[in-house]
Amino acid sequence: MAKLAIIGGTGLTSLKNLEIINREVVHTPYGEPSAPLTHGSIAGKEVLFLARHGYGHTIPPHKVNYRANIWALKEAGADHIIAVNAVGGIRADMTPGRIVIPHQIIDYTWNRINTYFEEGLTHVTHIDFTEPYCPGLRRMLIDGARAIGLNAVEEGVYATTQGPRLETAAEIDKLERDGCDLVGMTGMPEAALARELDICYACCAVVANMGAGRSNGAITMEEIEQNLNEGMERVRRLLERVAPLV
Ligand code: HPA
Repeated sequence: MAKLAIIGGTGLTSLKNLEIINREVVHTPYGEPSAPLTHGSIAGKEVLFLARHGYGHTIPPHKVNYRANIWALKEAGADHIIAVNAVGGIRADMTPGRIVIPHQIIDYTWNRINTYFEEGLTHVTHIDFTEPYCPGLRRMLIDGARAIGLNAVEEGVYATTQGPRLETAAEIDKLERDGCDLVGMTGMPEAALARELDICYACCAVVANMGAGRSNGAITMEEIEQNLNEGMERVRRLLERVAPLV
């Protein structure tokens, strides 16, 4: 049977609809994951949950040990991952509170360890990453969102920036010219590491704010938190629908 893991991002450090069975402290050859793994169930389906930024939300995007997180989930048996990520909207329809299921990603991060394939190699390995997200799991998220009337955006190109600062208005314009529709700080290298370990991985993004320069005034943490509260309620409903089908 497939084993589903959920990685919660900003605004989703715990899942209200997750019945917790136990918490497990895990060590990996790549160091410590962001938090203990939570074993639990959603709508009767056994799932694993990991808070990407730690349960106290203390680890910034560029300091997350992505390798340890993905390794720990794989070791615990996960072969599917739904990654929940807070993002800024670039395209006009990526409005605050909306759910987006991206289909592509561009990596603008730097200085993050982004592969398992660098030590003790017998040969150099290049994974295929033409389609960065698992089509089957994306389909389930899209169908699930339709079934419960979420009005999700069903595709988009996710720009992963380094953070932790937000972008300048000119950077958002440049990302748009590059073909990006949404912007966040945690999409990579997580998606690529999951592919390296052969895990079916899809992203459920929640728009927290319009990208810099796309709304009036500065982007505030209050605005982000308020929009995420609404968006994460939708994510919880979507996970309840999708988890039992994986
Ligand atoms: N930019 C990058 N990451 C983000 C944003 C943003 O505007 N909002 C939430 N995460």
